[in-house]
Amino acid sequence: MPVLVAVAWPYASGSRHLGHLAGAYLPADIYARYQRLAGNDVLMVSGSDVHGTPITVRADAEGVTPAEIVDRYHSEFCRQWELLGISWDLYTTTGTPNHASVTQDMFLTHLQKGFIDKRVSEQFYDPASERFLPDRYIEGTCPRCGYEAARGDQCDNCGSTLDAIELIEPRSRLTGAVPELRSTEHFYFRYSDFTEQVDAWLKTRQGWRSHVLNSSFGWTNDGLQDRAITRDLDWGVELPVDDLGEGKRIYVWYDAVIGYLSASQEWATRSGDPEAWKRWWHNDDAHHAYFIGKDNIPFHTMLWPAQLMGYGDLHLPDNVPANQYVTFSGAKMAASSGVGLTIGEGLSTFEPDALRYALAAALPEQADTEISVEEIARRINDELVATWGNLVNRVLSLAASALGGVVPAVGERQHSDIELLAGVDEALRQEADYIERVELRAGLRAAMEAAGAVNAYLNSNEPWKLASTDPDRAAVVLVTALEAIAGVRTGMAPYLPFSTEALDSVFGAVERWERPALVIGTTIAKPKPLFSKLDIAALDLVQQEPL
Ligand code: MF3
Ligand code: ZN
Repeated sequence: MPVLVAVAWPYASGSRHLGHLAGAYLPADIYARYQRLAGNDVLMVSGSDVHGTPITVRADAEGVTPAEIVDRYHSEFCRQWELLGISWDLYTTTGTPNHASVTQDMFLTHLQKGFIDKRVSEQFYDPASERFLPDRYIEGTCPRCGYEAARGDQCDNCGSTLDAIELIEPRSRLTGAVPELRSTEHFYFRYSDFTEQVDAWLKTRQGWRSHVLNSSFGWTNDGLQDRAITRDLDWGVELPVDDLGEGKRIYVWYDAVIGYLSASQEWATRSGDPEAWKRWWHNDDAHHAYFIGKDNIPFHTMLWPAQLMGYGDLHLPDNVPANQYVTFSGAKMAASSGVGLTIGEGLSTFEPDALRYALAAALPEQADTEISVEEIARRINDELVATWGNLVNRVLSLAASALGGVVPAVGERQHSDIELLAGVDEALRQEADYIERVELRAGLRAAMEAAGAVNAYLNSNEPWKLASTDPDRAAVVLVTALEAIAGVRTGMAPYLPFSTEALDSVFGAVERWERPALVIGTTIAKPKPLFSKLDIAALDLVQQEPL
Protein backbone atom coordinates (compact mmCIF):
# COMPACT_ATOMS: atom_id res chain seq x y z
CA MET A 1 0.00 0.00 0.00
CA PRO A 2 1.29 3.50 -0.79
CA VAL A 3 1.64 5.39 2.49
CA LEU A 4 2.21 9.15 2.47
CA VAL A 5 3.88 10.33 5.66
CA ALA A 6 3.22 14.07 5.53
CA VAL A 7 5.04 16.08 8.16
CA ALA A 8 4.44 19.68 9.25
CA TRP A 9 6.72 22.18 7.52
CA PRO A 10 8.73 24.05 10.16
CA TYR A 11 9.09 27.79 9.74
CA ALA A 12 12.72 28.57 8.87
CA SER A 13 12.51 31.48 11.28
CA GLY A 14 14.40 30.18 14.29
CA SER A 15 15.77 27.05 15.92
CA ARG A 16 13.21 24.37 16.56
CA HIS A 17 12.79 22.85 20.01
CA LEU A 18 12.51 19.39 21.48
CA GLY A 19 8.77 20.07 21.68
CA HIS A 20 8.64 20.29 17.87
CA LEU A 21 10.72 17.13 17.56
CA ALA A 22 8.37 15.20 19.84
CA GLY A 23 5.33 16.86 18.28
CA ALA A 24 5.88 15.95 14.63
CA TYR A 25 9.26 14.87 13.30
CA LEU A 26 10.11 11.97 15.60
CA PRO A 27 6.67 10.36 15.52
CA ALA A 28 6.57 10.70 11.74
CA ASP A 29 9.96 9.03 11.42
CA ILE A 30 9.03 6.15 13.74
CA TYR A 31 5.83 5.60 11.77
CA ALA A 32 7.60 5.79 8.38
CA ARG A 33 10.35 3.38 9.42
CA TYR A 34 7.77 0.90 10.68
CA GLN A 35 5.68 1.17 7.49
CA ARG A 36 8.73 0.50 5.33
CA LEU A 37 9.56 -2.62 7.36
CA ALA A 38 5.91 -3.70 7.08
CA GLY A 39 6.42 -3.72 3.30
CA ASN A 40 4.51 -0.56 2.43
CA ASP A 41 5.47 1.94 -0.21
CA VAL A 42 6.36 4.93 1.95
CA LEU A 43 6.79 8.50 0.75
CA MET A 44 7.83 10.77 3.61
CA VAL A 45 8.01 14.43 2.67
CA SER A 46 8.26 17.85 4.21
CA GLY A 47 10.47 20.88 4.00
CA SER A 48 11.14 24.26 5.49
CA ASP A 49 8.25 26.71 5.42
CA VAL A 50 10.06 29.80 4.15
CA HIS A 51 7.14 32.20 3.80
CA GLY A 52 4.91 34.28 6.00
CA THR A 53 5.37 36.82 8.71
CA PRO A 54 7.32 34.55 11.09
CA ILE A 55 10.18 34.87 8.57
CA THR A 56 9.79 38.56 7.68
CA VAL A 57 9.30 39.69 11.29
CA ARG A 58 12.54 37.93 12.21
CA ALA A 59 14.39 39.42 9.23
CA ASP A 60 13.13 42.92 10.10
CA ALA A 61 14.20 42.46 13.71
CA GLU A 62 17.72 41.45 12.67
CA GLY A 63 17.99 43.91 9.82
CA VAL A 64 18.76 41.17 7.28
CA THR A 65 16.88 39.81 4.27
CA PRO A 66 14.27 37.08 4.64
CA ALA A 67 16.44 34.92 2.35
CA GLU A 68 19.30 35.14 4.84
CA ILE A 69 17.07 33.96 7.70
CA VAL A 70 15.71 31.13 5.58
CA ASP A 71 19.14 29.91 4.48
CA ARG A 72 20.46 29.95 8.03
CA TYR A 73 17.65 27.88 9.54
CA HIS A 74 17.02 25.62 6.58
CA SER A 75 20.62 24.45 6.70
CA GLU A 76 20.43 24.04 10.47
CA PHE A 77 17.31 21.88 10.11
CA CYS A 78 18.92 19.74 7.39
CA ARG A 79 21.98 19.08 9.56
CA GLN A 80 19.82 18.16 12.52
CA TRP A 81 17.57 15.77 10.60
CA GLU A 82 20.70 13.97 9.50
CA LEU A 83 22.05 13.76 13.06
CA LEU A 84 18.69 12.57 14.38
CA GLY A 85 18.23 10.00 11.63
CA ILE A 86 14.94 11.44 10.33
CA SER A 87 14.47 9.34 7.20
CA TRP A 88 12.95 11.78 4.72
CA ASP A 89 12.36 10.70 1.16
CA LEU A 90 12.50 14.40 0.44
CA TYR A 91 13.06 17.38 2.70
CA THR A 92 12.76 20.50 0.54
CA THR A 93 11.48 24.06 1.03
CA THR A 94 8.48 26.11 -0.05
CA GLY A 95 10.94 28.42 -1.83
CA THR A 96 11.41 26.26 -4.95
CA PRO A 97 10.14 27.13 -8.44
CA ASN A 98 8.31 23.78 -8.40
CA HIS A 99 6.41 24.73 -5.25
CA ALA A 100 5.50 28.11 -6.70
CA SER A 101 4.11 26.57 -9.86
CA VAL A 102 2.11 23.86 -8.06
CA THR A 103 0.69 26.56 -5.76
CA GLN A 104 -0.15 28.84 -8.70
CA ASP A 105 -1.82 25.98 -10.53
CA MET A 106 -4.00 25.26 -7.49
CA PHE A 107 -4.81 28.96 -7.16
CA LEU A 108 -5.83 29.24 -10.79
CA THR A 109 -7.97 26.13 -10.58
CA HIS A 110 -9.74 27.42 -7.47
CA LEU A 111 -10.20 30.79 -9.16
CA GLN A 112 -11.59 29.26 -12.30
CA LYS A 113 -14.01 27.08 -10.33
CA GLY A 114 -15.29 30.08 -8.40
CA PHE A 115 -13.86 29.13 -5.02
CA ILE A 116 -11.66 32.22 -4.96
CA ASP A 117 -12.99 35.76 -5.27
CA LYS A 118 -11.71 39.30 -4.79
CA ARG A 119 -12.88 41.49 -1.94
CA VAL A 120 -12.04 44.90 -0.57
CA SER A 121 -11.71 44.91 3.19
CA GLU A 122 -10.38 46.98 6.02
CA GLN A 123 -6.97 45.85 7.24
CA PHE A 124 -4.65 47.23 9.87
CA TYR A 125 -2.17 49.81 8.67
CA ASP A 126 0.71 51.14 10.75
CA PRO A 127 0.85 54.93 10.21
CA ALA A 128 4.33 55.06 11.76
CA SER A 129 5.93 52.58 9.34
CA GLU A 130 3.50 53.35 6.49
CA ARG A 131 2.59 49.79 5.69
CA PHE A 132 -0.13 47.23 6.16
CA LEU A 133 0.39 44.86 9.09
CA PRO A 134 -0.41 41.28 8.16
CA ASP A 135 -0.66 38.44 10.70
CA ARG A 136 2.24 38.39 13.09
CA TYR A 137 3.02 42.07 12.70
CA ILE A 138 0.07 42.61 15.03
CA GLU A 139 -0.52 41.42 18.56
CA GLY A 140 -3.52 41.90 20.80
CA THR A 141 -6.06 40.19 23.01
CA CYS A 142 -7.74 37.02 21.71
CA PRO A 143 -11.47 37.63 21.10
CA ARG A 144 -12.19 33.97 21.90
CA CYS A 145 -10.29 33.32 25.14
CA GLY A 146 -8.96 36.68 26.33
CA TYR A 147 -5.28 35.69 26.02
CA GLU A 148 -3.34 38.96 25.84
CA ALA A 149 -0.47 38.00 23.53
CA ALA A 150 -2.51 36.53 20.68
CA ARG A 151 -1.00 37.03 17.21
CA GLY A 152 -2.81 38.35 14.18
CA ASP A 153 -3.07 34.88 12.61
CA GLN A 154 -3.66 32.55 15.54
CA CYS A 155 -4.01 32.44 19.31
CA ASP A 156 -1.32 30.30 20.96
CA ASN A 157 -3.51 29.84 24.01
CA CYS A 158 -6.77 28.46 22.60
CA GLY A 159 -5.52 27.45 19.14
CA SER A 160 -8.19 29.43 17.22
CA THR A 161 -7.23 30.75 13.83
CA LEU A 162 -7.82 34.49 13.80
CA ASP A 163 -8.23 37.38 11.45
CA ALA A 164 -6.06 40.23 12.72
CA ILE A 165 -8.93 42.71 12.71
CA GLU A 166 -10.73 40.61 15.34
CA LEU A 167 -7.99 41.28 17.94
CA ILE A 168 -8.95 43.39 20.93
CA GLU A 169 -6.54 46.27 21.67
CA PRO A 170 -4.30 45.59 18.66
CA ARG A 171 -0.75 46.95 18.54
CA SER A 172 1.92 47.03 15.86
CA ARG A 173 4.92 44.81 16.56
CA LEU A 174 7.02 47.04 14.32
CA THR A 175 6.46 50.32 16.13
CA GLY A 176 4.10 49.61 19.04
CA ALA A 177 1.65 52.06 17.39
CA VAL A 178 -2.09 51.53 17.51
CA PRO A 179 -2.87 50.52 13.93
CA GLU A 180 -5.65 52.16 11.92
CA LEU A 181 -7.98 50.49 9.43
CA ARG A 182 -7.51 51.14 5.71
CA SER A 183 -9.06 49.53 2.66
CA THR A 184 -7.09 47.03 0.67
CA GLU A 185 -8.05 44.44 -1.91
CA HIS A 186 -7.34 40.71 -1.52
CA PHE A 187 -8.29 37.31 -2.87
CA TYR A 188 -10.46 35.22 -0.58
CA PHE A 189 -10.92 31.48 -0.53
CA ARG A 190 -14.55 30.60 0.01
CA TYR A 191 -13.97 28.07 2.77
CA SER A 192 -17.61 28.54 3.81
CA ASP A 193 -18.65 26.75 0.60
CA PHE A 194 -17.05 23.61 2.08
CA THR A 195 -18.51 23.54 5.60
CA GLU A 196 -20.95 20.72 4.89
CA GLN A 197 -18.61 18.71 2.72
CA VAL A 198 -15.81 18.89 5.29
CA ASP A 199 -18.18 18.10 8.13
CA ALA A 200 -19.61 15.07 6.31
CA TRP A 201 -16.13 13.88 5.44
CA LEU A 202 -14.92 14.28 9.04
CA LYS A 203 -17.84 12.10 10.17
CA THR A 204 -16.48 9.25 8.05
CA ARG A 205 -12.97 9.37 9.60
CA GLN A 206 -12.13 6.34 11.69
CA GLY A 207 -9.50 5.78 14.34
CA TRP A 208 -8.74 9.49 14.76
CA ARG A 209 -7.60 10.85 18.08
CA SER A 210 -10.59 12.19 19.96
CA HIS A 211 -9.01 15.57 20.67
CA VAL A 212 -8.41 16.07 16.93
CA LEU A 213 -11.98 15.16 15.96
CA ASN A 214 -13.56 17.09 18.82
CA SER A 215 -11.80 20.34 18.05
CA SER A 216 -12.51 19.92 14.32
CA PHE A 217 -16.23 19.37 14.87
CA GLY A 218 -16.23 22.41 17.13
CA TRP A 219 -15.08 24.49 14.17
CA THR A 220 -17.31 22.93 11.51
CA ASN A 221 -20.32 23.44 13.81
CA ASP A 222 -19.55 27.16 13.80
CA GLY A 223 -19.10 26.99 10.02
CA LEU A 224 -15.87 27.55 8.09
CA GLN A 225 -15.06 31.21 7.49
CA ASP A 226 -13.94 32.66 4.17
CA ARG A 227 -10.36 33.86 4.57
CA ALA A 228 -8.07 36.17 2.69
CA ILE A 229 -5.41 34.08 0.96
CA THR A 230 -3.23 36.98 -0.13
CA ARG A 231 -1.29 39.47 1.99
CA ASP A 232 0.33 42.89 1.71
CA LEU A 233 3.86 41.50 1.69
CA ASP A 234 6.66 41.34 -0.84
CA TRP A 235 7.80 37.93 0.42
CA GLY A 236 5.90 34.80 -0.64
CA VAL A 237 4.62 32.94 -3.69
CA GLU A 238 3.72 35.41 -6.43
CA LEU A 239 0.16 35.64 -7.66
CA PRO A 240 -0.42 34.01 -11.07
CA VAL A 241 -2.76 36.92 -11.95
CA ASP A 242 -1.77 40.57 -11.74
CA ASP A 243 -5.07 42.23 -10.93
CA LEU A 244 -4.14 43.29 -7.38
CA GLY A 245 -1.10 45.35 -8.30
CA GLU A 246 2.30 45.32 -6.62
CA GLY A 247 3.18 44.21 -3.13
CA LYS A 248 0.78 41.29 -2.73
CA ARG A 249 1.74 37.70 -2.20
CA ILE A 250 -0.11 34.43 -1.56
CA TYR A 251 -0.77 33.84 2.14
CA VAL A 252 1.62 31.38 3.76
CA TRP A 253 -1.04 28.98 5.00
CA TYR A 254 -2.63 28.64 1.57
CA ASP A 255 0.75 27.74 0.09
CA ALA A 256 2.45 25.77 2.90
CA VAL A 257 -0.06 22.92 2.98
CA ILE A 258 0.27 22.61 -0.81
CA GLY A 259 3.86 21.63 0.04
CA TYR A 260 2.73 18.06 0.68
CA LEU A 261 1.64 17.80 -2.95
CA SER A 262 4.46 19.85 -4.49
CA ALA A 263 7.11 17.93 -2.54
CA SER A 264 5.62 14.63 -3.71
CA GLN A 265 5.95 15.88 -7.28
CA GLU A 266 9.49 17.14 -6.71
CA TRP A 267 10.42 13.75 -5.25
CA ALA A 268 8.95 12.01 -8.32
CA THR A 269 10.83 14.23 -10.75
CA ARG A 270 14.07 13.69 -8.88
CA SER A 271 13.53 9.94 -8.81
CA GLY A 272 13.37 9.93 -12.63
CA ASP A 273 9.67 9.03 -12.86
CA PRO A 274 7.79 12.36 -12.89
CA GLU A 275 4.40 10.61 -12.73
CA ALA A 276 5.25 8.53 -9.65
CA TRP A 277 3.57 10.94 -7.20
CA LYS A 278 0.19 9.85 -8.56
CA ARG A 279 0.53 6.49 -6.80
CA TRP A 280 -0.05 8.43 -3.56
CA TRP A 281 -2.33 11.23 -4.71
CA HIS A 282 -4.54 9.72 -7.40
CA ASN A 283 -5.19 6.48 -5.59
CA ASP A 284 -8.09 5.66 -3.26
CA ASP A 285 -6.11 2.82 -1.73
CA ALA A 286 -3.27 5.03 -0.52
CA HIS A 287 -3.05 6.03 3.13
CA HIS A 288 -2.13 9.61 4.06
CA ALA A 289 -1.03 10.34 7.62
CA TYR A 290 -0.25 13.91 8.66
CA PHE A 291 2.10 14.44 11.59
CA ILE A 292 1.62 17.84 13.19
CA GLY A 293 1.42 19.67 16.50
CA LYS A 294 -2.02 20.62 17.80
CA ASP A 295 -1.72 24.31 16.85
CA ASN A 296 -1.78 23.13 13.22
CA ILE A 297 -4.98 21.06 13.52
CA PRO A 298 -7.49 23.47 11.87
CA PHE A 299 -5.24 23.88 8.83
CA HIS A 300 -5.03 20.11 8.29
CA THR A 301 -8.52 18.91 9.21
CA MET A 302 -10.51 21.71 7.54
CA LEU A 303 -8.64 24.21 5.40
CA TRP A 304 -6.34 21.82 3.53
CA PRO A 305 -9.15 19.29 2.97
CA ALA A 306 -11.31 22.17 1.62
CA GLN A 307 -8.48 23.18 -0.74
CA LEU A 308 -8.13 19.55 -1.89
CA MET A 309 -11.88 19.15 -2.38
CA GLY A 310 -11.98 22.41 -4.32
CA TYR A 311 -9.21 21.24 -6.63
CA GLY A 312 -10.73 17.77 -7.01
CA ASP A 313 -9.44 14.27 -7.56
CA LEU A 314 -6.70 14.38 -4.90
CA HIS A 315 -6.44 12.01 -1.93
CA LEU A 316 -7.76 13.43 1.36
CA PRO A 317 -6.11 12.89 4.77
CA ASP A 318 -6.71 9.45 6.28
CA ASN A 319 -5.33 10.34 9.68
CA VAL A 320 -4.11 13.50 11.38
CA PRO A 321 -2.52 12.15 14.56
CA ALA A 322 -1.75 15.60 15.95
CA ASN A 323 0.22 15.69 19.17
CA GLN A 324 -0.48 17.89 22.16
CA TYR A 325 2.23 20.08 23.64
CA VAL A 326 5.31 18.97 25.48
CA THR A 327 5.93 21.21 28.44
CA PHE A 328 9.39 21.68 29.79
CA SER A 329 9.61 22.36 33.50
CA GLY A 330 6.13 23.77 33.30
CA ALA A 331 6.50 26.04 30.25
CA LYS A 332 5.49 25.27 26.69
CA MET A 333 8.51 24.15 24.69
CA ALA A 334 7.70 26.18 21.63
CA ALA A 335 10.02 28.47 19.76
CA SER A 336 7.66 31.41 20.12
CA SER A 337 7.83 31.32 23.92
CA GLY A 338 11.61 30.94 23.97
CA VAL A 339 11.50 28.22 26.60
CA GLY A 340 12.94 24.74 26.51
CA LEU A 341 15.88 23.04 24.88
CA THR A 342 16.45 23.55 21.19
CA ILE A 343 17.05 20.47 19.08
CA GLY A 344 20.70 21.54 18.83
CA GLU A 345 21.00 21.69 22.60
CA GLY A 346 19.31 18.31 22.93
CA LEU A 347 21.76 16.83 20.42
CA SER A 348 24.78 18.25 22.22
CA THR A 349 23.53 16.75 25.50
CA PHE A 350 22.28 13.29 24.47
CA GLU A 351 23.17 10.60 21.92
CA PRO A 352 20.60 10.67 19.10
CA ASP A 353 19.04 7.28 19.88
CA ALA A 354 18.95 8.05 23.59
CA LEU A 355 17.16 11.33 22.90
CA ARG A 356 14.78 9.58 20.49
CA TYR A 357 14.05 6.97 23.13
CA ALA A 358 13.30 9.40 25.93
CA LEU A 359 11.05 11.58 23.73
CA ALA A 360 9.26 8.58 22.22
CA ALA A 361 8.52 7.24 25.70
CA ALA A 362 6.91 10.57 26.60
CA LEU A 363 5.16 11.59 23.35
CA PRO A 364 2.21 13.91 24.06
CA GLU A 365 -0.25 11.71 22.15
CA GLN A 366 -3.34 12.25 24.25
CA ALA A 367 -2.52 15.03 26.68
CA ASP A 368 0.04 17.73 27.32
CA THR A 369 3.14 16.09 28.74
CA GLU A 370 5.98 17.36 30.85
CA ILE A 371 9.63 16.51 30.28
CA SER A 372 12.71 17.78 32.07
CA VAL A 373 16.35 17.09 31.37
CA GLU A 374 16.46 14.94 34.52
CA GLU A 375 13.48 12.93 33.31
CA ILE A 376 15.08 12.38 29.92
CA ALA A 377 18.31 11.25 31.59
CA ARG A 378 16.51 9.00 34.07
CA ARG A 379 14.63 7.27 31.27
CA ILE A 380 17.85 6.78 29.36
CA ASN A 381 19.70 5.27 32.33
CA ASP A 382 16.92 3.30 34.02
CA GLU A 383 15.04 2.11 30.95
CA LEU A 384 17.06 2.24 27.75
CA VAL A 385 20.48 1.36 29.18
CA ALA A 386 19.23 -0.89 32.00
CA THR A 387 16.72 -2.92 30.01
CA TRP A 388 17.87 -2.93 26.37
CA GLY A 389 21.51 -1.77 26.23
CA ASN A 390 22.66 -4.02 29.05
CA LEU A 391 20.71 -6.99 27.73
CA VAL A 392 22.37 -6.81 24.33
CA ASN A 393 25.74 -6.30 25.90
CA ARG A 394 25.32 -9.18 28.33
CA VAL A 395 24.17 -11.70 25.72
CA LEU A 396 26.75 -10.74 23.09
CA SER A 397 29.57 -10.83 25.68
CA LEU A 398 28.49 -14.26 26.88
CA ALA A 399 28.14 -15.50 23.33
CA ALA A 400 31.60 -14.18 22.50
CA SER A 401 33.13 -16.01 25.44
CA ALA A 402 30.98 -19.11 26.12
CA LEU A 403 30.18 -19.90 22.48
CA GLY A 404 33.68 -19.13 21.28
CA GLY A 405 32.35 -16.20 19.28
CA VAL A 406 30.45 -18.29 16.70
CA VAL A 407 26.71 -19.06 16.49
CA PRO A 408 26.54 -22.89 16.78
CA ALA A 409 23.90 -25.34 15.64
CA VAL A 410 22.14 -26.34 18.84
CA GLY A 411 20.16 -29.26 20.25
CA GLU A 412 16.60 -29.53 21.42
CA ARG A 413 14.68 -26.59 22.88
CA GLN A 414 12.79 -26.73 26.10
CA HIS A 415 9.33 -25.36 26.65
CA SER A 416 10.64 -22.11 28.19
CA ASP A 417 12.84 -21.45 25.12
CA ILE A 418 9.94 -21.86 22.72
CA GLU A 419 7.73 -19.76 24.96
CA LEU A 420 10.22 -16.89 24.99
CA LEU A 421 10.40 -16.76 21.20
CA ALA A 422 6.62 -17.00 20.86
CA GLY A 423 6.38 -14.10 23.32
CA VAL A 424 8.71 -11.97 21.18
CA ASP A 425 6.67 -12.76 18.07
CA GLU A 426 3.48 -11.76 19.86
CA ALA A 427 5.11 -8.54 21.08
CA LEU A 428 6.00 -7.64 17.47
CA ARG A 429 2.38 -8.22 16.42
CA GLN A 430 1.08 -6.04 19.24
CA GLU A 431 3.62 -3.34 18.56
CA ALA A 432 2.60 -3.31 14.88
CA ASP A 433 -1.04 -2.80 15.90
CA TYR A 434 -0.07 0.08 18.14
CA ILE A 435 2.09 1.79 15.53
CA GLU A 436 -0.59 1.44 12.86
CA ARG A 437 -2.96 3.22 15.23
CA VAL A 438 -0.17 5.77 15.84
CA GLU A 439 0.04 4.86 19.52
CA LEU A 440 3.78 5.08 19.42
CA ARG A 441 4.38 5.22 23.17
CA ALA A 442 2.51 1.96 23.61
CA GLY A 443 4.43 0.46 20.68
CA LEU A 444 7.72 1.26 22.35
CA ARG A 445 6.44 -0.15 25.63
CA ALA A 446 5.62 -3.44 23.89
CA ALA A 447 9.18 -3.68 22.57
CA MET A 448 10.64 -2.81 25.98
CA GLU A 449 8.47 -5.43 27.66
CA ALA A 450 9.78 -8.01 25.24
CA ALA A 451 13.32 -6.97 26.20
CA GLY A 452 12.30 -7.37 29.85
CA ALA A 453 11.08 -10.88 29.12
CA VAL A 454 14.47 -11.82 27.64
CA ASN A 455 16.16 -10.47 30.78
CA ALA A 456 13.85 -12.56 32.95
CA TYR A 457 14.58 -15.63 30.83
CA LEU A 458 18.33 -15.16 31.29
CA ASN A 459 17.97 -14.65 35.02
CA SER A 460 16.02 -17.86 35.44
CA ASN A 461 18.25 -19.93 33.14
CA GLU A 462 21.61 -18.46 34.23
CA PRO A 463 23.65 -19.45 31.15
CA TRP A 464 26.80 -18.00 32.76
CA LYS A 465 26.57 -20.85 35.34
CA LEU A 466 25.55 -23.47 32.81
CA ALA A 467 28.63 -22.70 30.73
CA SER A 468 30.76 -24.86 33.05
CA THR A 469 28.13 -27.33 34.31
CA ASP A 470 26.15 -28.03 31.12
CA PRO A 471 27.72 -26.38 28.05
CA ASP A 472 25.14 -27.90 25.66
CA ARG A 473 22.26 -26.37 27.56
CA ALA A 474 24.19 -23.10 27.88
CA ALA A 475 24.47 -23.00 24.09
CA VAL A 476 20.73 -23.57 23.64
CA VAL A 477 19.93 -20.79 26.11
CA LEU A 478 22.35 -18.34 24.55
CA VAL A 479 21.27 -19.03 20.99
CA THR A 480 17.63 -18.67 22.08
CA ALA A 481 18.47 -15.36 23.76
CA LEU A 482 20.25 -14.20 20.59
CA GLU A 483 17.21 -15.11 18.49
CA ALA A 484 14.95 -13.27 20.91
CA ILE A 485 17.17 -10.20 20.79
CA ALA A 486 17.14 -10.27 17.01
CA GLY A 487 13.34 -10.03 17.20
CA VAL A 488 13.28 -7.33 19.86
CA ARG A 489 15.77 -5.39 17.74
CA THR A 490 13.24 -5.31 14.89
CA GLY A 491 10.78 -3.81 17.36
CA MET A 492 13.34 -1.17 18.36
CA ALA A 493 14.36 -0.37 14.77
CA PRO A 494 11.75 2.37 14.12
CA TYR A 495 12.65 4.09 17.38
CA LEU A 496 16.43 3.54 17.59
CA PRO A 497 17.92 3.51 14.06
CA PHE A 498 21.56 4.07 14.99
CA SER A 499 21.91 1.39 17.66
CA THR A 500 19.90 -0.96 15.45
CA GLU A 501 22.39 -0.48 12.64
CA ALA A 502 25.30 -0.96 15.05
CA LEU A 503 24.16 -4.60 15.33
CA ASP A 504 24.07 -5.27 11.59
CA SER A 505 27.33 -7.23 11.73
CA VAL A 506 25.75 -9.77 14.11
CA PHE A 507 22.16 -9.96 12.92
CA GLY A 508 22.21 -8.45 9.43
CA ALA A 509 20.27 -5.32 8.47
CA VAL A 510 16.64 -5.18 9.63
CA GLU A 511 14.69 -5.47 6.41
CA ARG A 512 11.27 -6.75 7.38
CA TRP A 513 8.92 -6.59 10.37
CA GLU A 514 9.80 -10.03 11.69
CA ARG A 515 12.06 -11.94 14.05
CA PRO A 516 14.81 -12.95 11.64
CA ALA A 517 16.48 -16.36 11.70
CA LEU A 518 19.96 -16.49 13.15
CA VAL A 519 22.63 -17.62 10.71
CA ILE A 520 24.68 -20.54 12.03
CA GLY A 521 28.38 -19.75 11.85
CA THR A 522 27.98 -15.97 12.28
CA THR A 523 30.87 -14.58 14.29
CA ILE A 524 30.14 -12.62 17.43
CA ALA A 525 32.90 -10.29 18.55
CA LYS A 526 33.08 -8.83 22.03
CA PRO A 527 30.53 -5.99 21.80
CA LYS A 528 30.86 -2.26 22.38
CA PRO A 529 28.06 -0.89 24.61
CA LEU A 530 25.10 0.34 22.54
CA PHE A 531 24.54 3.38 24.74
CA SER A 532 26.45 5.14 27.48
CA LYS A 533 25.06 5.76 30.91
CA LEU A 534 24.65 9.45 31.74
CA ASP A 535 26.05 11.30 34.70
CA ILE A 536 22.91 13.13 35.79
CA ALA A 537 24.67 15.59 38.12
CA ALA A 538 26.87 16.80 35.25
CA LEU A 539 23.80 17.27 33.00
CA ASP A 540 22.37 20.04 35.17
CA LEU A 541 25.26 22.23 34.08
CA VAL A 542 24.49 21.56 30.47
CA GLN A 543 20.87 22.50 31.06
CA GLN A 544 21.77 25.88 32.50
CA GLU A 545 24.39 26.65 29.95
CA PRO A 546 23.49 24.87 26.73
CA LEU A 547 26.45 24.11 24.49
N1 MF3 B 1 5.12 26.43 9.35
C1 MF3 B 1 4.00 26.03 10.17
C2 MF3 B 1 4.37 26.03 11.63
O1 MF3 B 1 5.55 25.94 11.93
C3 MF3 B 1 3.55 24.63 9.84
C4 MF3 B 1 3.18 24.48 8.45
S1 MF3 B 1 2.67 22.88 8.19
C5 MF3 B 1 2.01 22.91 6.63
O2 MF3 B 1 3.48 26.10 12.47
F1 MF3 B 1 0.90 22.38 6.67
F2 MF3 B 1 1.84 24.10 6.21
F3 MF3 B 1 2.77 22.33 5.83
ZN1 ZN C 1 -7.38 32.46 22.32
